[in-house]
Amino acid sequence: MNSKANDSGAEILATPATDTEGLSVPRHVAIIMDGNGRWAQGRGLSRTEGHRRGMEAVRNAVETSRELGVSYLTLFSFSSENWTRPPLEIQFLFGLLRLFIQRDLADLNAKNVRVRVIGSRERLTSDIKGLLDKAETLTMRNRGLTLVIAFNYGGRDELTRTMRAIGEDVAAGRLPASAIDEQLISSRLDTSFMPDPDLVIRTSGEMRLSNFLLWQAAYAELVFLPLYWPDFDRAAYLEAVREFSSRARRFGGIAARRSP
Ligand code: IPE
Ligand code: IPE
Ligand code: MG
Repeated sequence: MNSKANDSGAEILATPATDTEGLSVPRHVAIIMDGNGRWAQGRGLSRTEGHRRGMEAVRNAVETSRELGVSYLTLFSFSSENWTRPPLEIQFLFGLLRLFIQRDLADLNAKNVRVRVIGSRERLTSDIKGLLDKAETLTMRNRGLTLVIAFNYGGRDELTRTMRAIGEDVAAGRLPASAIDEQLISSRLDTSFMPDPDLVIRTSGEMRLSNFLLWQAAYAELVFLPLYWPDFDRAAYLEAVREFSSRARRFGGIAARRSP
């Protein structure tokens, strides 16, 4: 509820939640959740404490997506390049994923959230694979927000796996090479079940994609926020959506097309 002072100095109550009015809401928001380590180090805490706090921001992002009516929320949680980090940090990140699913899955399911996971499952332990399968199976029929967890995900890795599978089909005579077009490639990617992202947000001030959704983000609007992921709250989310709303998307054409 917003409040402001009138001429006599008394507080009057304004109409609630007008801050989302008139916003064009992206159908698919994809977020590079960056800056946990720096958030923690700036406070004299361990990097892992930053990751732990980042989980709270994940819950906020899910809630705000539901409030806004976003259909797909993709969260970059662990990249195919994050294996180069110290083993203890990797272990902690895997532990957090486990904890998130164990603690939040029932609540997400009750909120009609459908969970999907993208990325390679090859190097994952069988307990993690089991949990990811469980989350997807339990929520498969939900029709609310689709929450996509990009775990052990890299755009180049995804494209490589996809090219290999298509190549095998061609070699076996199941697919003529002439049938390979953009639509076919999209339909074979990990993300085949959803539209391309309209908005990609990255926190932490870094301005790069770090191998996130390279194919799919071809025409996404990019918004870089100068705050660390644990500080990403509803206000920061709305700021990014407001920025998205103000952009003219042209998709290579000339007439400005309004965002969906
Ligand atoms: C993002 O925070 C989380 C992951 C990449 C898993 P970082 O751990 O990258 O934090 P910074 O960027 O080093 O501050
Ligand atoms: C991108 O962040 C990966 C995730 C948020 C999971 P990184 O921290 O790994 O990216 P770089 O190393 O700064 O490019
Ligand atoms: Mg980082």
